[in-house]
Amino acid sequence: MRTSASHPLGVTVTDVRLEDVGPAEVAGLTDLMATHGVVVLPDQTLDDGQFVELLQRFGELTFTTGETPVDGFPDLNVVSNVGRTTPPRSTFHVDSSYLGRPPAYTALRAVTVPAEGGETVFTDQYRAYETLRPELRERLEGRTITHVVTGLDLTEDDETSAEHPVFRAHPVSGRTTLFLSTPARCVAVSGMSAAESAEVVRELFDHSTREDNTVRHAWSPGDVVMWDNACVLHKADHSGVVGDRVMHRGMVAGGPTRAAAARS
Ligand code: OGA
Ligand code: MN
Repeated sequence: MRTSASHPLGVTVTDVRLEDVGPAEVAGLTDLMATHGVVVLPDQTLDDGQFVELLQRFGELTFTTGETPVDGFPDLNVVSNVGRTTPPRSTFHVDSSYLGRPPAYTALRAVTVPAEGGETVFTDQYRAYETLRPELRERLEGRTITHVVTGLDLTEDDETSAEHPVFRAHPVSGRTTLFLSTPARCVAVSGMSAAESAEVVRELFDHSTREDNTVRHAWSPGDVVMWDNACVLHKADHSGVVGDRVMHRGMVAGGPTRAAAARS
């Protein structure tokens, strides 16, 4: 594959037609996501049916209760600022980390690109782990974070909370990542008081989202961007958006995860 990597994360692939991927491309893109976190595929011409077919090659699709489905494509949801008077909130997060098995991959297909702004920003959670101050890393070894849902209308049958190791082995690369989401969703660190948990989560989040640990994707028509939820945080930057911004989103369900500690 013809690739061009960004620093500290992200890679652009320019020679794959997404309506036409086979097992070799799926394996290649899976490895690229495990290595670089985010794969940008410019100049695509997929429609929603082809987008669904593409994502199904990576695994079973999953949908978050409370999101707005794309007309005729119940596996996809709409991410849109159209008709909103206030911009949507934008905080770094992992999609549905309150599930025991959060989605492995999320993909966005640009439908309408705003005239200005509306970038998507990603963090490198391998690097966040590797650059964590050693005392904090040691203190957190073997601990878990309790992730809870916020801001969605779920039903009684939906899972709303899950515990995940703070340090996890990536299921494909085996490398250790720092796994957390928005502080409001990370309500407790195992074995710590509420105050201590909040302080630690804040430090982990600030560390993860430092400017030098992020990359920004500025959208162009035809872009498809796919990322690996096990090694990146992401957010939309809704500040200063001029014009309509519409994305269609699909998510691939996750498999079992392992604690980094469990490997050794
Ligand atoms: C999402 C999301 C980011 C964006 O759909 O889960 O975080 O840039 N979107 O729209
Ligand atoms: Mn998201």
